[in-house]
Amino acid sequence: MFSWVVTGAALSVLLGCLLLTGSSSGSKLKGPELSLKGTQYVIQADQTLYLKCRGEVAHSWSLPKTVSKESKRLSIITSVCGRNGKQFCSTLTLGRAQANHTGYYSCRYLSTPVSKKKKTESTIYIFINDTGRPFVEPHSTMPETVHMTEGQEMIIPCRVSAPDIMVTLKKFQIPDMKTLIPDGKTIIWDNKRGFIIPKPTYRFIGLLSCETTINGLLYSTNYLTYRQDNTIIDVQLSTPNPIKLLKGQTLALNCTVTAAWNTRVQMTWNYPGEANNRASITPRFDPSNSQANVFYSTLIIDKVQSKDKGLYMCRVQSGPSFKSANTTVHVYEKPFITVKHRKQQVLETIAGKRSYRLSMKVKAFPSPEVVWLKNGLPATEKCARYVAHGYSLIIKDVAEEDAGDYTILLSLKKAKIFQNLTTTLIVNVKPQIYEKAVSSFPDPNLYPLGSQQSLTCTVYGVPQPTIKWIWHPCSQNYSKARYDFCSSNDRSFTLDADSNVGNRIQTITQRMAIIEGKNKIASTLVVADSRASGIYSCVASNKVGHVERNISFYVTDVPKGFHVNLEKMPAEGEDLKLSCMVSKFLYRDITWILLRTVNNRTMHHSISKQKMAVTKEYSITLNLTIKNVSLEDSGTYACRARNIYTGEEILQKKEVTIRDQEAPYLLRNLSDQIVAISNSTTLDCQAKGVPEPQITWFKNNHEIQQEPGCNFNS
Ligand SMILES: *[C@@H]1O[C@H](CO)[C@@H](O)[C@H](O)[C@H]1NC(C)=O
Ligand SMILES: *[C@@H]1O[C@H](CO)[C@@H](O)[C@H](O)[C@H]1NC(C)=O
Ligand SMILES: *[C@@H]1O[C@H](CO)[C@@H](O)[C@H](O)[C@H]1NC(C)=O
Ligand SMILES: *[C@@H]1O[C@H](CO)[C@@H](O)[C@H](O)[C@H]1NC(C)=O
Ligand SMILES: *[C@@H]1O[C@H](CO)[C@@H](O)[C@H](O)[C@H]1NC(C)=O
Ligand SMILES: *[C@@H]1O[C@H](CO)[C@@H](O)[C@H](O)[C@H]1NC(C)=O
Ligand SMILES: *[C@@H]1O[C@H](CO)[C@@H](O)[C@H](O)[C@H]1NC(C)=O
Ligand SMILES: *[C@@H]1O[C@H](CO)[C@@H](O)[C@H](O)[C@H]1NC(C)=O
Ligand SMILES: *[C@@H]1O[C@H](CO)[C@@H](O)[C@H](O)[C@H]1NC(C)=O
Ligand SMILES: *[C@@H]1O[C@H](CO)[C@@H](O)[C@H](O)[C@H]1NC(C)=O
Ligand SMILES: *[C@@H]1O[C@H](CO)[C@@H](O)[C@H](O)[C@H]1NC(C)=O
Ligand SMILES: *[C@@H]1O[C@H](CO)[C@@H](O)[C@H](O)[C@H]1NC(C)=O
Repeated sequence: MFSWVVTGAALSVLLGCLLLTGSSSGSKLKGPELSLKGTQYVIQADQTLYLKCRGEVAHSWSLPKTVSKESKRLSIITSVCGRNGKQFCSTLTLGRAQANHTGYYSCRYLSTPVSKKKKTESTIYIFINDTGRPFVEPHSTMPETVHMTEGQEMIIPCRVSAPDIMVTLKKFQIPDMKTLIPDGKTIIWDNKRGFIIPKPTYRFIGLLSCETTINGLLYSTNYLTYRQDNTIIDVQLSTPNPIKLLKGQTLALNCTVTAAWNTRVQMTWNYPGEANNRASITPRFDPSNSQANVFYSTLIIDKVQSKDKGLYMCRVQSGPSFKSANTTVHVYEKPFITVKHRKQQVLETIAGKRSYRLSMKVKAFPSPEVVWLKNGLPATEKCARYVAHGYSLIIKDVAEEDAGDYTILLSLKKAKIFQNLTTTLIVNVKPQIYEKAVSSFPDPNLYPLGSQQSLTCTVYGVPQPTIKWIWHPCSQNYSKARYDFCSSNDRSFTLDADSNVGNRIQTITQRMAIIEGKNKIASTLVVADSRASGIYSCVASNKVGHVERNISFYVTDVPKGFHVNLEKMPAEGEDLKLSCMVSKFLYRDITWILLRTVNNRTMHHSISKQKMAVTKEYSITLNLTIKNVSLEDSGTYACRARNIYTGEEILQKKEVTIRDQEAPYLLRNLSDQIVAISNSTTLDCQAKGVPEPQITWFKNNHEIQQEPGCNFNS
């Protein structure tokens, strides 16, 4: 609405009259009176609107904005009227009225009349009916922005040029339009205002359209609603916290606020000199950010003094939302450096760490130049693994050679202030056993029964580790019947030279040896007489760790732990006797099989009626006896066993060729012999045959029995 005050010559005439006529008391008017009665009126477009106002005092017009701009078409003529010319009249003439002139026209007294019961204003809503322009203010190409505030009524101002135009409200929504139906509660249609949404929600955010169809033509006007927001996303001070300044320097603080697109904020500062307005504060808005609203406020104090030190807080408010950021400002009188050890003068770390931070407690202002020395030489130049960071030296991939004296040199050259401090770094090394590195997964060792053995562990570590030997005897569980290998056992015994558990120990000796330039300890355990099976462990420990190496010590009475034997190659009709012996600590599932080659493929045949394997102290024996063999029993016999540790099946073969039977025959005939009395003689009978023939001696056709003075060896 716009006020049109009746001014100019006409008004002075009116005022003149007013002065002349004095009070207008006693009039019958209840207030300003319009020539058109009622609350609304319709005229056709391009017609002339005449509207007259009559009142007791001077008045002004309030007209739709579009009308107020119409300098040519609009005229307002004031006159004196009424009986005796005691009243004030004005006639508004709007030639060729247009649809966009639709709106409230009101006439209002400029001064309050005497009687308070009387109205001071009269209003009428005038529709300028134009079927070609159903919407008073159409926005067809560029939608009009409508603000939405949660909890507050929102109006989609698609006013119409005639009261009876049917308007529908639609919302653009993927995939199509959605019609919003006025229900008199959530959406209300008012032909003088548009669609009223008393409690708008997010559902109404977006592109809305008012539509009407007149004479088959569709007219629409568009609105873009957006929500007024109070979201402060972030408040930040651009400076580090705390801020350190020397007396007389300039303090400049930048507060940056990031707020949601539809948010406006108020920024204020709280600071020590606030009461005296010590700071100059400049707010700024950055329109370049298209994602969010960015506001700045810069606080500057020239020549800071001690009294300016303290907490500076940037406070940001948006409706009910509040956020702040703060920083502490220190003001120093003059430059200084103090340096101390963080804990002790001597520091310790462990070799192999990914990184170690060697740091000093430094207080200084302004920031001093920092140089690190290692054993008196510039550290970072000497080794690429050293990185200076603030008042710390970071050592990456800590190695033994990093041990040494480290010095931090701090200098403020302008102020001629120099400080230094030295710390000693010890690099500890976890114990390592070299034999472990050499053989990663050794097969269990077998030691011949009764042999003397020496076991050695070579150890390195910082500080020097101590070495001890431990004996874990095998737990031999005979109740497990078939398998009887060395299973681990909770029992363990720490050994010394006098120990009498397990095997007899001859000595335990320790000697230093320089290997690969390092001073290492070799500890040797000598077993005097190998009898008991188990595990010997050497354990090396120092304060940063311990390591152990297990040496399985399996005593065997079988050469190399696996042996097959054929007592005698049998002949047809004899018995085949094979024996297989394996170390019980290394093998299980022992069985005899027969290998036969058919069509160039070797087949394994199991042999039925095998006896049970017999387990003794060190080994398992499985004897195979085949009675009364025939030629078909010839073949490759193999003893098969499974290695407990590798799971591998091991075969040991024996070729058996059954000899055909052959009648005995003499290799040499006996010849006549002449023997002196008391002298002795040897009669040699060599015979062959399969099976081996039995030899019987006859003397004068009598079988000779064993007699004194006669020896018989067949
Ligand atoms: C009102 O509408 C007419 C066309 O009917 C147009 O020429 C005029 O510029 C509009 N006035 C305003 C203020 O938009
Ligand atoms: C508006 O004008 C049209 C055509 O000129 C007419 O049919 C209609 O009745 C008018 N509406 C009103 C409310 O006067
Ligand atoms: C503060 O921000 C403004 C604008 O980004 C920048 O021009 C000015 O240099 C900043 N001042 C400080 C002290 O960071
Ligand atoms: C200053 O900010 C820190 C976090 O940045 C906050 O923990 C602290 O409460 C704030 N101090 C004051 C006095 O608001
Ligand atoms: C360290 O400071 C002492 C005095 O505190 C000085 O004598 C010495 O030369 C300094 N060392 C180095 C390497 O600057
Ligand atoms: C031997 O093994 C059996 C079965 O695994 C178990 O029940 C028994 O306790 C074991 N005996 C010893 C002495 O370990
Ligand atoms: C060594 O053997 C003992 C006893 O069987 C066992 O407890 C330990 O874990 C083994 N250590 C290693 C490194 O294999
Ligand atoms: C068996 O192999 C040999 C040589 O490897 C070949 O000469 C012979 O023909 C093969 N016999 C059969 C039956 O495949
Ligand atoms: C197995 O045969 C061997 C001779 O070949 C014999 O000494 C041993 O006693 C036999 N063992 C068993 C358990 O029969
Ligand atoms: C041995 O086997 C043969 C035939 O294979 C049989 O005639 C003979 O009686 C058997 N001898 C014994 C002692 O069983
Ligand atoms: C042994 O004597 C017999 C009969 O005189 C004869 O047939 C045979 O060939 C002789 N054997 C040898 C090995 O001389
Ligand atoms: C006994 O006989 C051997 C040969 O058989 C002969 O060398 C030796 O001289 C004889 N001794 C006597 C005392 O006849």
